[in-house]
Amino acid sequence: MNTNRRTFLQLASGSALALTGGNFLQSCMNSMNMGDMSDVVIGSETGLSLRLPPVWNGGAISAGSVNLDVQNTTIQAWAMGGSVLAPTIRLRKGTAFSAQLQNQLSTETNIHWHGLTVPANMDGHPKDVAQAGGSFAYNFPVLDRAGTYWYHPHPHKNTARQTYMGMAGLFIVEDPAEAALGLPSDEFDVPLVLQDKRFQQVKRFVYAPSMADVMTGFLGDTVFVNGVPVPYLDVENGAYRFRILNGATARVMKLGFENGMAFHVIGTDGGLIDAAERVTSVMLSPGERVEILVDFSSVAINGSVLFKTLDFTLPAAPASSTPHGSTSGMTMSNYKQGVAMPIMRFNVKRQTSRQTAIPTTLTPITRLNTAEATKTRTFALNMEMMSFEGGTSPHGSTSGGEMMRHTINGKLFAMERVDEKIAFGATELWEFQNKGDEPHPMHVHGTQFQVLSRSSGTLTAVDKGWKDTVLVNPGETVHVILRFDKYRGLYLVHCHNLEHEDDGMMLNFEVA
Ligand code: C2O
Ligand code: CU
Ligand code: CU
Repeated sequence: MNTNRRTFLQLASGSALALTGGNFLQSCMNSMNMGDMSDVVIGSETGLSLRLPPVWNGGAISAGSVNLDVQNTTIQAWAMGGSVLAPTIRLRKGTAFSAQLQNQLSTETNIHWHGLTVPANMDGHPKDVAQAGGSFAYNFPVLDRAGTYWYHPHPHKNTARQTYMGMAGLFIVEDPAEAALGLPSDEFDVPLVLQDKRFQQVKRFVYAPSMADVMTGFLGDTVFVNGVPVPYLDVENGAYRFRILNGATARVMKLGFENGMAFHVIGTDGGLIDAAERVTSVMLSPGERVEILVDFSSVAINGSVLFKTLDFTLPAAPASSTPHGSTSGMTMSNYKQGVAMPIMRFNVKRQTSRQTAIPTTLTPITRLNTAEATKTRTFALNMEMMSFEGGTSPHGSTSGGEMMRHTINGKLFAMERVDEKIAFGATELWEFQNKGDEPHPMHVHGTQFQVLSRSSGTLTAVDKGWKDTVLVNPGETVHVILRFDKYRGLYLVHCHNLEHEDDGMMLNFEVA
């Protein structure tokens, strides 16, 4: 990354005063103590064994604080269903789902069923919350095809914190078309939820983004897998299906093995793609899922292989893009996108007795037809000097002023404002234009879409099939096609960098 982009904050005269109030300075100093200004130490392998989340038993889902034991330290986390990760909900397509959220936190929360098509009032819009001590009854039919969906809180300006503190779980849908393929199942079908945390110096879960962190996102130093830092899993030398969710608030990952071995992408956000694709790495941004088949037969028995996020350089934004700011102000955090980090080690311990054929065709994807699109909408993703109302936000507590904010079409999120009106049943083309120098994983509620093109080049394996989140790189324009034919009501489109979302990089659209 270009060094002059490391300064981010334009403290225009007049606005500087509001921002240098006591709380802001304090929050900068806290971040310095947490290592913002020193070298980042990347968390290494811990020798802890991978845990699998419990399976949802059909009961109520509580939200509350729990104690986690990590490396002989008790860490306070926030959990749904009493567990970090939250219980995995596994249901067949067509099932009626219902569960009551019981909020035992001292702050409001709710649940968004990320990727599932649910009625607007069940979707976890920030206006629909369970107050502290209250509850919210969720019920909806599972309409979506087999796939790896997930759930997490979505309260106003507090999605990042609650997700970071441990509130997230998988919602796996099964259907007959997928079952017929005979993919690896049971102990060979393993969920891996990846979340980086800023852990090395504090050994606790502390969500305290500085202003610099709100620009880039709160990037961590250690990858947790299913709530365990850099664990291991003993495997046999056969094929495994891994369902991988990037559940980080902000870190884009380039997933691959240290020895460069190939694997197959078989699914993305909305389930299986139509044909397996052989790759040696895959980019996965926050909110996205990828399902891969990994055949460990090339690894010797008693050998092992490390799974990592590899180093990468994000495409540079064009010179005309909005800079983070110019000459004055704090420099950006030392936490960076694109840094190599270990995720987990696979120890090959046993000879398999299973066949390891990779199916060539998977499940057919019905392509939406661009000729049926009745409208094109553009969403310009930007950073702009905007007024900040003061109070508590991801920026810390301030008395208000002007600062760089993340906007869509020049706007910050407003709870009740309808930004886009969509005719029920319509097929539309949406164009996400990244005008800035940060990556934005753009997420749409209420439907799944298909990616048509990237201005930077060809689609990658993770862009294929049905999607609900797509990475839009600096300077890039991504076209998607979508249809709104299941439910009417108010839904959201937002950046799934959760610091950006909480900063206001989110709009309402109404299907009517
Ligand atoms: Cu996973 Cu609106 O978010
Ligand atoms: Cu969502
Ligand atoms: Cu963003």
